[in-house]
Amino acid sequence: MKGLILSGGKGTRLRPLTFTQAKQLVPVANKPVIFYGIEALVGAGIREVGIIVGDTKNEIREAVGDGRRWGEDVRITYIEQPDPLGLAHAVLIAEDFLGGEPFVMYLGDNILKSGIVSLVEDFRERKPNALILLTPVPDPTIFGVAELEDGRVVRLVEKPKEPRSNLALVGVYMFDRHVFEAVKAIKPSWRNELEITDAIQYLVDHGHQVEPHLVSGWWKDTGKIEDILEANRLILESLSGSVEGVIDKDSRVSGEVVIEQGVSVRSSTIRGPAIIGTGCEIVDSYIGPFTSIQKNCRIVRTEIEHSIVLEGSEIADVGSRIDESLIGREVRIYKCPPKPLAFRFMVGDKSEIGLK
Ligand code: TTP
Repeated sequence: MKGLILSGGKGTRLRPLTFTQAKQLVPVANKPVIFYGIEALVGAGIREVGIIVGDTKNEIREAVGDGRRWGEDVRITYIEQPDPLGLAHAVLIAEDFLGGEPFVMYLGDNILKSGIVSLVEDFRERKPNALILLTPVPDPTIFGVAELEDGRVVRLVEKPKEPRSNLALVGVYMFDRHVFEAVKAIKPSWRNELEITDAIQYLVDHGHQVEPHLVSGWWKDTGKIEDILEANRLILESLSGSVEGVIDKDSRVSGEVVIEQGVSVRSSTIRGPAIIGTGCEIVDSYIGPFTSIQKNCRIVRTEIEHSIVLEGSEIADVGSRIDESLIGREVRIYKCPPKPLAFRFMVGDKSEIGLK
């Protein structure tokens, strides 16, 4: 059995971050999102993983490498998708790599709390042609939804106006070789993509066995900022604290907090769960729950919580608390001189700033 992680795409919903970075490399609890997917596949016993890459192929390759960090026998193969022509297109171009074996297809920006061991076991036992991961959601009208009959999937509907089920498709699927017949037969949708939902519907309509598997535990698609912050919160909830950096006697640390090597905390309060990456300096500040600060940041006379700060950023003297924010790499936020009384911005395209 092989794994296929989709790490191409456009990432338009995460601009401006995705102007300069692959969305699958945005860190959640200081770990790139795609690593959670690789760990899920490796945790389910998969050793050969193909990664679909697009424009951001070089940085994905550099961050992920050849797979050995996840085990001596783990091998990663990169498969270039010239344009993001859809999830089913990604399957189509991976045919040679997959070589007719059953495979798990995993969207590179998704995180599943409980991994995919039970999904893979279920597939091995029941041997359907496709097994699709589903989760009940409160508002099915914003998801791809599966309708079931007698324990089988009979119809998939994208963002149904009048949903007949509350089971949304999660970004993980298992297929056998029959899926290639489907991805070759379907036509591009209105948005000019080969849709995986159309491929699955093709399998159903042509008498192949498509079965549901319900997710246990939470699932997050980190395609939007609020979902990244929520994934960060969920991952940090089960953090175990450890302190390797230096905390001075005027500081207080409580709850589960990871303070990596080379961090200096001075006259500050850190309330977990929170993680502070190597080389950070935290001075006269408050770092509140559900905050991840990546390496080499400086936080001075600032309060921040429920946020993610990416590497090399510097935040100083912010007059009020920063909350629910995602701050990119090498960002500088600081206080202007008292006169003139003005804000001073240099903000990239598609940025978002909320003032009180
Ligand atoms: P999406 O989040 O559906 O698409 P996107 O990455 O283009 O983002 P946006 O809607 O914000 O523009 O993609 C899900 C995952 O699949 C993501 O990791 C990117 C990947 N993907 C591919 O690898 N190839 C593709 O052709 C598409 C559409 C997505």
